[in-house]
Amino acid sequence: MVSGDVTKPLFDRAVLESGALFSVYNIPSLVQAGFDALVAAVGCSGQTPVLDCLRKVPAQKLFDSAAAAGVSYLPAVDGKYVKEQQQVALSKGQIYKIPVLVLDNNDEGTYFTTYITSQDDVNALIDSFTLLPADNTQAKQIYTAANFGSPIAAVANFFGDIVFKCPDIQLVRTLTAAGVAAFKGRFSIKPTINLAAGDAFFSVIGVYHTAEMPFVWNYNPSLNQTNYEKSISQKMINTWSDFFAGSPFPGLLTAGINWPTYDSTGKRLVWSSTGTSVETVPSDLKSRCDFWDAANLRFSSANNKL
Ligand SMILES: *[C@@H]1O[C@H](CO)[C@@H](O)[C@H](O)[C@H]1NC(C)=O
Repeated sequence: MVSGDVTKPLFDRAVLESGALFSVYNIPSLVQAGFDALVAAVGCSGQTPVLDCLRKVPAQKLFDSAAAAGVSYLPAVDGKYVKEQQQVALSKGQIYKIPVLVLDNNDEGTYFTTYITSQDDVNALIDSFTLLPADNTQAKQIYTAANFGSPIAAVANFFGDIVFKCPDIQLVRTLTAAGVAAFKGRFSIKPTINLAAGDAFFSVIGVYHTAEMPFVWNYNPSLNQTNYEKSISQKMINTWSDFFAGSPFPGLLTAGINWPTYDSTGKRLVWSSTGTSVETVPSDLKSRCDFWDAANLRFSSANNKL
């Protein structure tokens, strides 16, 4: 949504799941070495254009070599395809003005943070984020075990807020203000199959990052065949389809649910095991996101140099 000539969108609707504009993207000076290592590992050094060579590499080899080189498939700000940090682009309105549906899950951060056991761990993780303002004191006062019930919950909320939830809210708010139909949703279903399997990891991570995927794709092995999950999956598929067909949510309207676009009243749809409804974004999340909006993240200085 921020690539190329944003006045000529390459698609006209988008659903973003856990799909925030990351606060800070990579830049070439940080990722070039990894790319070069990958190119060398697959035998494409010195080939021009190098992308033509890379495209001929078998997928598994490319995947394994990337993992060995420590390369993750995240875009970088290169000044061409991605012209600048996404949040900067958003703040300037340099983004596709297309209808979006933006969904995130209750516990976006848990998947990444279960190793945390103490407030010291929480503070160390906060400090490890180079995107923070130089002074992390305030963030450490917000994300405490005392405020959230446990160190894991504190850090999971920190990670979830900063990487997913707050940028998501910023995105829909900005698009709505620009006159674009932007909808916000929350996925609140803890898939039961993982729990039935007695998996200790899944028992503590709540409605984790990616929990909604089997529902959106009707992926049977991950959906409980006997409870509500199949029917919710079908309703989500219908809703996504309604959205892409351009007629916002006739199925939901039939069910008496009017999903409003996201504005200052903070209304969003919730998918839960007991049904679908519209709720208001809670004030504590809103105020944490206001904090991050005001925090003036460091993307405009060192992190944005090409
Ligand atoms: C499916 O859901 C039912 C009802 O909640 C539950 O009793 C059962 O254990 C679940 N099965 C699996 C495989 O998750």
